[in-house]
Amino acid sequence: MTTDPAPVRHFLTLDVLGPEGLRLLLGLAHRAKREPAAFRGALPGGRVGMIFDKPSTRTRVSLETASWGLGMLPIVLRPDELQLGRGETIADTARVLSRYLSAIAVRTFAQATVEELAANASIPVVNALTDEHHPLQALADVMTLEEEFGTLAGCRLAYVGDGDNVCHSLAQAAALGGFRLAIATPVGYEPDPRIIEAARELAVATGGEIELSHDPLAAVEGADAVYTDVWTSMGREAEQAARREAFRDFRVDASLMARAARHAIFLHCLPAHRGEEVTNAVIDGGQSRVWDQAENRLHTELALLYTLITGDAAGDRI
Ligand code: CP
Ligand code: NVA
Repeated sequence: MTTDPAPVRHFLTLDVLGPEGLRLLLGLAHRAKREPAAFRGALPGGRVGMIFDKPSTRTRVSLETASWGLGMLPIVLRPDELQLGRGETIADTARVLSRYLSAIAVRTFAQATVEELAANASIPVVNALTDEHHPLQALADVMTLEEEFGTLAGCRLAYVGDGDNVCHSLAQAAALGGFRLAIATPVGYEPDPRIIEAARELAVATGGEIELSHDPLAAVEGADAVYTDVWTSMGREAEQAARREAFRDFRVDASLMARAARHAIFLHCLPAHRGEEVTNAVIDGGQSRVWDQAENRLHTELALLYTLITGDAAGDRI
């Protein structure tokens, strides 16, 4: 008898996986990192479309590489290459792309856009970042925590900075993974209370905890890992000067890291704006795991594409 959860159809937010789905996916991702040959060519002839309405280094290259590693053809589409820009609807685009592809990944502004694509697609749709969520990033983040600490349960992560897409997906990760997330943001830059409330409800079953404050020192106190993101996300460039002012006391520097546990690691989704949200000494220092974290994007995305397309969440067919 199998206790595997029902296969996930679309990956628009992290919480759709559920605790067991996340556990299985991470198991597959660790396996993909250990034995990449086992996954090579697992989906021969597959095709993955990727629509990028915003720039990307890690997400684009890791998704393309993961698709190719599984034996699939990656097709990257910029907005000016699609008829979407000339008025074709999102729904029609989803219907047509579903006739050619095995999965579609989308990086765009509104969460509603990925939801509309998914509602009209007959193939899996993956959120490759919206203004609201960055679930692919959270997968790599928790994989990196597991690599370092062996387990997520009982882990204490401090997130210092903007209550943005990365922060929202981390809150869902804490809820599924059963770890403690202390979020410290400036006043006015808190995460969306609806996302936090929903994550807290999910966390009841896993022992996860999500705390909000405006005090970076308190959030970091005794933490196992300290995480930050850019102060100005893509699409918010007009707010940059005001944000630099508001976030002045939220820089992760050596003195803030010293408040965390002695064994604490530093995480950042990247790209980093060195000298703003993090100092060179921290990101280049011995506690930084940001390059492993970036590499783990590849392994988690390979596991995710495999799971979404085959429905084989436990990796029984690998
Ligand atoms: N962390 C992340 O998503 O990076 P890119 O914007 O380079 O894809
Ligand atoms: N919060 C950032 C993440 C970049 C990977 C942004 O949306 O620009």
